[in-house]
Amino acid sequence: MDAIECIQKRMSIRKFNPDPVPKETLLNIIDIARRSPSYKNSQPWEAVIISGSKKEELSNLLIGLLERGETAKPDLPEPVSWPPEIDKRIKEHFAKRSTLLGIDISQFDIYVKKAKAANFKFYGAPHAIFLYQDSSLTPWSILDIGMFAQSIMLTACAYGLGTVPQAFLTDYSAEIKKFLGIPESKRLILGISIGYPDMTDKVNSYRSSRADISGILKWVE
Ligand SMILES: Cc1cc2nc3c(=O)[nH]c(=O)nc-3n(C[C@H](O)[C@H](O)[C@H](O)COP(=O)(O)O)c2cc1C
Repeated sequence: MDAIECIQKRMSIRKFNPDPVPKETLLNIIDIARRSPSYKNSQPWEAVIISGSKKEELSNLLIGLLERGETAKPDLPEPVSWPPEIDKRIKEHFAKRSTLLGIDISQFDIYVKKAKAANFKFYGAPHAIFLYQDSSLTPWSILDIGMFAQSIMLTACAYGLGTVPQAFLTDYSAEIKKFLGIPESKRLILGISIGYPDMTDKVNSYRSSRADISGILKWVE
């Protein structure tokens, strides 16, 4: 599969088959993603891959925190507002997904709790990759780790695997870092569930749209 095909084919997968991915494949994905560019070749990324009973344990821990109503404290704060044109895209995305899933989005609290629980179950994926970096790093390094994340997802796609990047998997950053043995001095950036996609589930029939190119590109000549 070439690069263009991977970019066009990748989509967020929200239902996986439980079959584990060979360790060697997961290792190759991270190995290849290390070729991502970074500011001054700083490579400000570290990763943990969690699988098996440990993944189940973490899932139960997160669902417990959610059910007890513990306040989410992600290391990277959740955005509180968006510029109007971006807010419109987000609302359209939520509306389309809730229609597909038959969920009443006007019951926003219920929607979020359900969505978070599904996220905390890793959408049934056999593995999750947690990305983190030193907390002292500047926003440039967050940009770099984002590129690393995209390389992971595109490489996984080339291997016939599905992925979904999940900010929700950083909701309880302190607890997750403790569980995974990541030092407190690091900041948790993103979780990525990974595995073989279950394309028979309707959740995976959703294809997100994109803003028209005329709205994001300007020519100066
Ligand atoms: C930084 C980041 C955080 C995200 N967090 C979540 C999440 O917590 N849960 C989820 O289901 N999807 C999450 N997504 C997936 C986006 O909703 C998805 O990328 C977007 O709707 C575009 O759809 P596509 O990935 O299928 O192209 C996240 C994506 C990014 C880049």
